[in-house]
Amino acid sequence: MKKVLAMLLAAAMMFSLAACGGSSSSSAASTDAASSEAGSSTEASSEEGSSEEASSGESDVARIQAAGELVMLTNCGFPPFEYIDGTEPAGVDVDICAAIAEELGVELRVVDMDFDGVINALVSGKGDIIGAGMTITEERLQSVDFSDVYFTSAQYMILPPDSTIASLADLAGKSIGVQTGTTGDLFIDGEISDGALKDTGATLKQYKTGLEASLDLLNGRLDVVVLDQFPAQTIVSQNEGALKLSDGAINDSESYALAVNKGSDLLPVVNEVLAGMLEDGSIDELVTFHTENTADAA
Ligand code: ARG
Repeated sequence: MKKVLAMLLAAAMMFSLAACGGSSSSSAASTDAASSEAGSSTEASSEEGSSEEASSGESDVARIQAAGELVMLTNCGFPPFEYIDGTEPAGVDVDICAAIAEELGVELRVVDMDFDGVINALVSGKGDIIGAGMTITEERLQSVDFSDVYFTSAQYMILPPDSTIASLADLAGKSIGVQTGTTGDLFIDGEISDGALKDTGATLKQYKTGLEASLDLLNGRLDVVVLDQFPAQTIVSQNEGALKLSDGAINDSESYALAVNKGSDLLPVVNEVLAGMLEDGSIDELVTFHTENTADAA
């Protein structure tokens, strides 16, 4: 079974090097300690088998410590929570996961991928933890376990400076951009199919990141981008005068948490680190630091 894991780790490592422009990596994946693991005859031969193994009750903590690295799955187009600083992944979630890695005595490796793929990647064993400004939802709870809440947010609108759009109702008939698979995407999709925007002619356009959506807004191909508050604020501050932020949120507040595989023994470790960082104010400090670090980066 560990052989399969090692192969997955190696594949994920190659992926992360390609996708993230190279982040710290160890040679842990080459360590072959699979020799006498029992009961692996059927599972070891298929990649699907390894996905079951990831949530089959084996200790995640022991496996991570043996591998020497904690693999964080994310999408780096979401400042200040995750972004590329020069060539390296950075952000609030990266720092939180680095603290968790430190607690475990291992290195952190960040895998940058499409946001709508992170849950599948976790469940199929391509990483240990999702740190992606991810909102707790009922649907996601079917697939993963969430940590305690470490941040509260909501959906905001990014608008051209002269826009008169001020509320959800004003999105009637408009062309709306979102990041694929996010709560903003799901919220607007719901409003168009069965809510305030139903039959108004409003259209939804999906993008790989909020940043890409905002480029289309700048180019006049969209009327509005719907995105989480802090990333929206960051994009606006990077485009001062060319974009503005809505005065308030257009949905109810959302709770960010880290995600691990169901039943993982990583969860108590994650919650312990989070509790410490919430209590001593580090999370607030990180939000401030990374907000400033990305404010005029464009
Ligand atoms: N909070 C939103 C959600 O859970 C957006 C998260 C997007 N995160 C990212 N790293 N791109 O759907």
